[in-house]
Amino acid sequence: MTEKQKNQLGVLLVGSGSATPMQKITNDQLALRVDTSDEWIRTRTGISERKILGKDQSFVEMCSIAGLQAISMAGWKPETIELIILATSTPDDLFGSAAKVQSAIGAKNAVAFDLTAACSGFLFALVTGAQYLRNGSMKRILVIGADQLSSWVDWDDRKSCVLFGDGAGAVAVESSDNKDHLIGFKLRSDGSRGDCLTLGKTKEFQSIVQQNNFQIGNFDSIQMNGQEVYKFAVREVPAILDELLKMHHIDSSSLDWLLLHQANKRIIDAVATRFKIPKSKVLSNLAFYGNTSAATIPLMLDEAVRDKRIKSNDLIATSGFGAGLSWGAALIKWHGPI
Ligand code: ACO
Repeated sequence: MTEKQKNQLGVLLVGSGSATPMQKITNDQLALRVDTSDEWIRTRTGISERKILGKDQSFVEMCSIAGLQAISMAGWKPETIELIILATSTPDDLFGSAAKVQSAIGAKNAVAFDLTAACSGFLFALVTGAQYLRNGSMKRILVIGADQLSSWVDWDDRKSCVLFGDGAGAVAVESSDNKDHLIGFKLRSDGSRGDCLTLGKTKEFQSIVQQNNFQIGNFDSIQMNGQEVYKFAVREVPAILDELLKMHHIDSSSLDWLLLHQANKRIIDAVATRFKIPKSKVLSNLAFYGNTSAATIPLMLDEAVRDKRIKSNDLIATSGFGAGLSWGAALIKWHGPI
């Protein structure tokens, strides 16, 4: 550890929360719309159902419930939060949704902004927020990972529509002068490979006056080359985790939990096998929610904290990966309320 690092403050995860929509869509229901089957979806992905936001609840409400749960577990008053980072690719307003969540939860002293890194968003946001805690400029922050990909899925494309769901998860994080539970992290981006997973603007232009024109502000649906994304995940996730473990001289046998982005059960199983991590240490709730993008990691974390699988001081290896392309890994310890 360098002298500079020694002077930094530590980071503790002291609360978690999550929220998912009431509306459930099963594989059998999807098979009423596209040519698929429960058997195909379960065996190729591990997904049985997904939760989709309907008319009864908004994206901001879902984020706010997750955030409020996290700060309640932490025992914080909302006005003591200094920063809210909302990791999302699907804000309900292109100018950002974080400030709406800030207002909805009464965090009137917090600055709030969105951060977009697709399914890696939560990890990128956690690491970003941690820097404010480490350098002492803030004491309490709320990191939310949430997505409403259902709005951007082509529900007639069986190759992608079976994968995604909506959800939100949150963690309350505070600085500490004697402990550090963000043991290490690595983040990566590679835009040159980004074409295999996009949610891009449509290429429609209209005239303004004379020869001048502008690009209409519409987005296409999610376009995905599933096999390329799969190959990317099973190559890069083990590589970055391996690098991180070696850097911190941690053997995979001393991990308490493996908590990967919940995209496909086969990806999770492949990574667990590579590190010889037994099934009992692999966290997965993909079957019930599908891929909720930036929400998967905090959603799973919150579930396992609340059902007491994850205990204080448990060592968790986590990794997010997705569009961008973007990927990352972190070694964290759960702390829980102080
Ligand atoms: N039901 C039935 N058949 C299907 C379905 C479906 N829902 N989808 C595809 N098929 C068919 C294909 O048409 C193909 O048929 P063909 O051989 O007659 O052409 C056959 O099944 C095999 O298709 P593959 O694409 O080879 O199937 P694969 O085993 O690769 O599984 C999957 C597809 C599940 C999409 C997999 O590639 C995957 O999980 N990839 C990763 C995707 C992912 O995680 N994306 C999100 C990343 S996170 C983010 O940032 C948003």
